[in-house]
Amino acid sequence: MNFSITTKSPETLGAYVIVGVFENQKLTAAADTINQASKGTLLQNLKSRKFSGKAGKALELTNLPGTKAKTVLVVGLGSNKCKVEFIRAIETLFSKVREAEETAITIFIPELEASGVDRTWMTRKIASIGTSISYRYEQRKNLLDGKSLSGTPTKVAVAIEGKGSSSDKTHLVEGSAIGKGMNLAKDLGNLPANICTPRFLAEITTKLGKQNKFAVKCLSEADMKKLGMGSLLSVSQGSKEPAQLIHASYSGGKKKDAPIVLVGKGITFDTGGISIKASSGMDEMKYDMGGAASVIGTLSAISEMKLPINVVGLVAAAENMPSGTATRPGDVVTSMSGKTIEILNTDAEGRLVLCDALTYAEKLNPAAAIDVATLTGACVVSLGKVASGLFSNNDDLAEEISRAGTTAWDRVWRMPIWEDYTKLLSSNFADLANIGGRAAGSITAACFLAQFATKYPWAHLDIAGTAWVSGKEKGSTGRPVPLLCEFLLNRI
Ligand code: BES
Ligand code: MN
Ligand code: ZN
Repeated sequence: MNFSITTKSPETLGAYVIVGVFENQKLTAAADTINQASKGTLLQNLKSRKFSGKAGKALELTNLPGTKAKTVLVVGLGSNKCKVEFIRAIETLFSKVREAEETAITIFIPELEASGVDRTWMTRKIASIGTSISYRYEQRKNLLDGKSLSGTPTKVAVAIEGKGSSSDKTHLVEGSAIGKGMNLAKDLGNLPANICTPRFLAEITTKLGKQNKFAVKCLSEADMKKLGMGSLLSVSQGSKEPAQLIHASYSGGKKKDAPIVLVGKGITFDTGGISIKASSGMDEMKYDMGGAASVIGTLSAISEMKLPINVVGLVAAAENMPSGTATRPGDVVTSMSGKTIEILNTDAEGRLVLCDALTYAEKLNPAAAIDVATLTGACVVSLGKVASGLFSNNDDLAEEISRAGTTAWDRVWRMPIWEDYTKLLSSNFADLANIGGRAAGSITAACFLAQFATKYPWAHLDIAGTAWVSGKEKGSTGRPVPLLCEFLLNRI
C-alpha cells in the first residue's frame, strides 16, 4: 500500500473518492464541495437513505452528476470530537474499500478536534489502520518476499483539511510502517506451529535483520546451557524442536544511549507439557508466541521508520511438549540468576523461559525492559479482550506505557505486584515455585517475573486476551505493536 498526500479538489478526481459527513448530516468541506458540484444530489441521497453521519456507517454513491468520480463513499464521522469515533470511521472506510476491491482511493478528512490527539496522530492512524485492515492471511513460508497481498488498494491518497504540514508524508510513512509491523506479527501468529517453530522464528528475524539493517544473533541450546539457563531449557527439553534465544539489536541511536529491551514470549506451541491442557481449542496455543511476534513486528516497524533510538529485541522461543524427556511436575531447575525453581506445573512455562531472558537482559544495561507475553488465562478472565495487563516495578514507566496505550488505542490496565502476592510463590524445595495457586493468577505470574527483573526499570504486558481473537474471526490482532511503537516514538 502506497500512501501519498494530495491537495486536489474532490470533484476533479476520477477515482474512488471518500468524503466525511458529521452527525445530523452536517457536511465536511469536501462533502460540501461534492454536494455543490452535484447540485445538491449528495445531500438528497443522504436524506432519502437516512444517513445521519454516525461513526461506523458508510454509504456508496455512484455516478453523482458534476463529479468525475465513479464512486463517492460517504463515511460517518460522528461528532469529530472523539478519537474512538475517528478510529471507527477510518476502519469502516477501509473495510468498505476492501469489499469493493478498489485499488486506488482518495480520502478527504477534516482535522479532528479531540483533545490529546493532533494532526500527526491522525495521519499515522489513517495509514496504520489502512494497512492493518487490509491484512489477509496467505499461507506462505517466505513472509518477507515483498509481494503485496492480493486485493488490497495499492494507492491511497490522503487530503487532510486545515493547514497542511510538510511532515504529513513522514507521518503516513510511519503509520504504514506500524501497520506493516502489525501484519508481520499477525502472519507469524497465524502460521501453524509445524511451520512456525523456534528455528523458523530465528530464521525470519535473521532475514529481517539483513533487510532492515539490524544485527541478529541466535543462541543455541548449547550456548544457553553455558550461560546456565536451566529454566528456559527445561521447557524445550520435551520437544524435538530446539529452543532459540534470539537477540536482535537495532542501533538507530548514539552508541552510548542505553537500549530499550523488548522481551517476547515465543512458545511456538503450548500443549502444557506433562501438565497437559484439555484438547478443546488447543489449536489456539499456536498463538502462544504472540509476544515474540509483537517484538519482531515492532523491530521491523521502527527500523523501517529509522527511529534514532537503540532497541534490543529478545525472543525466548521454545515448544512446550510432553514426552519421555519432558520436565516432570516437582522437578527443580536452576535459572541463569542462580535462583532455583520448583516446577509444580509444566503449563506455567512462559515465566520459565522469560525469567532467563530477563536475567540475560541485565548485561545490556537497559534504560527499561518490557516483556510481552500471552502469559495467563487468568488475565483473559480479568480483562477480557479489551485491555492487556500491565505490571511494573516502576511507576513512571507504567504511566508512560499506559499513556502510549491510550494514545495508540491499544489499551492496557495496570495491576499490582505487591509482596503479599509474591509470598504465594513460596516453595519447600526451591527458592520459588512456578505457580501460586488459583487466586490472582496473572498477578502471581508477574510477581514471579519481577524476581528476575530487579536491576532495571521493568514492565510486563500480559497479552493473553488481546493477541488474538477466537471463533469465526479467529486470527492474530497484531497487538501490542501499536502500543510499543507509540511508546518508542515518544522516547525520541
Ligand atoms: N499460554 C498459556 C496462557 C494462556 C491460556 C493464554 C489461555 C491464552 C489463553 C500459559 O502458558 C498457561 O498455560 N498458563 C497457565 C498458568 C497456570 C498453570 C498457573 C494458565 O493460565 O492456566
Ligand atoms: Mn502454558
Ligand atoms: Zn503458554
